[in-house]
Amino acid sequence: MFEGKVVLTGVKPTGTPHLGNYLGAIKPAIALGREALKTGGKHYMFIADYHAINAEKNPEVLNQKLREIACVYLAGGLDPAQSVFFRQSDIPEVHEITTILYAYTPKGFMNKAHAYKAAVDKNREAGKPDDDGINMGLYTYPTLMATDIVAYDSDIVPVGKDQVQHVEIARDIAGAINAHYNKELLHLPTYYIDERVAVVPGIDGRKMSKSYGNVIPLFEDDKSIKKAIFSIKTDSRPMEEPKNPDEILVYEIYKSIATPEQIQEMGDGLRQGKLGYGHIKNMLLDAVIKEIGGIREKYNYYMAHFDEVEEMLADGARRARPAAQATLKRLKDAVFAR
Ligand code: ADP
Ligand code: TRP
Repeated sequence: MFEGKVVLTGVKPTGTPHLGNYLGAIKPAIALGREALKTGGKHYMFIADYHAINAEKNPEVLNQKLREIACVYLAGGLDPAQSVFFRQSDIPEVHEITTILYAYTPKGFMNKAHAYKAAVDKNREAGKPDDDGINMGLYTYPTLMATDIVAYDSDIVPVGKDQVQHVEIARDIAGAINAHYNKELLHLPTYYIDERVAVVPGIDGRKMSKSYGNVIPLFEDDKSIKKAIFSIKTDSRPMEEPKNPDEILVYEIYKSIATPEQIQEMGDGLRQGKLGYGHIKNMLLDAVIKEIGGIREKYNYYMAHFDEVEEMLADGARRARPAAQATLKRLKDAVFAR
C-alpha cells in the first residue's frame, strides 16, 4: 500500500505520553513508518514544536515535552537511520512556504477548522467572547500544517479522525496553487486512518486522556502502574458468577494490548466464572509490563543521554531540509516568475 510513497507523521509534543497515546498513536506510527520503508517508500517523522507554542508558553515545559516525545518514539523503535526524524523548528523554510500558502488559504477555511471551532465552542459554553484567548497561531494553524505536509512532497499522512479535515485543507490549498500556476508545484497529500487502531479506555471507562486524569502511565515504576490498574472500576459480583466480558472495563483495556489467545482466555474465564477481578487485573498488569518494560528502559536511557537524541534530530533536519528548500524554490520561481 505504501510502495514508493512518502509517508509523513507529525506529532505535537503535548505532555507525558500514557498507555492510550502509546497504543493509539505512537506504536502505530512507528509500524506504518516501517511498512513504508520496507516497501521502498520514505518516512518523515517530525515533532511539531511550532504548533505547541500556541498553547504552551513556558520554555522549560516545552523543552521537557519535546524531550519526552522524542525519547518515546526512539524507545518505541523508530529508527532514525531509516526514518527522517526531525524537529519542525529546525526547518526555517517552513515559514516562507507558509507565507505563500496564506495567499491561497481562504479565511473561511480557518473559520471552519475544527481546532478553532472547538476553542470558540468552549468560550461560548463559558459565556466568554468567541475569540477569547485564541491567538493567530491557533487560528491559522491548518496552513502551517499544510506546509508541514507539502514541504516534503508527502503522499500519505497517517492521522487520527480529528486531523482528517486539516489534511483535506492542505490538499485544497495545494490544489489551488497548482491550478493557479497550471503546474504540479505541490504534491497532493491524502490522509490515512488506520482502522486497526482502537480508542483505549481509561481506568474510569471514559477515553483514556490526560485531561480526565484516568490514565495508565507508561514510564513510571511498576508500583504506579499497578496502582492505576488496581483502581480500575469493577463491581462486587463474586468470581463464580458468570459475566459478560464486554461489560467489564479491565477486559476492554486488555483487548487493546493482549494477543488474541490471551483475550480469549480472559473472556472464557469471565464467562465461566473462573476468573475474579483480582486475577484479571493481574493479567492486565502483566501484559502492560511486558509491552512497555523494554521501552521504559530505553526511554530512560535516551532521557538521560539527550545529547545523543539532539544529534539524531540534527541529522534528521539535515536530511529533511533539502526537500523543503526545493519546494520553496519551486514556489518562489512560479510566484515571482524567476
Ligand atoms: P490526551 O487525550 O491524553 O490529551 P492527545 O490528545 O494529546 O491525548 O493525543 C495524542 C495522540 O494520542 C493522538 O494521536 C490521539 O489520537 C492518541 N490518543 C490519545 N488518547 C488515546 C486513547 N485513549 N486511545 C487511543 N489513542 C489515543
Ligand atoms: N495537528 C497535528 C495534531 O494536533 C500535528 C501536526 C502538525 C501534524 N503538523 C502535521 C500531523 C502534519 C500530520 C502532518 O496532532
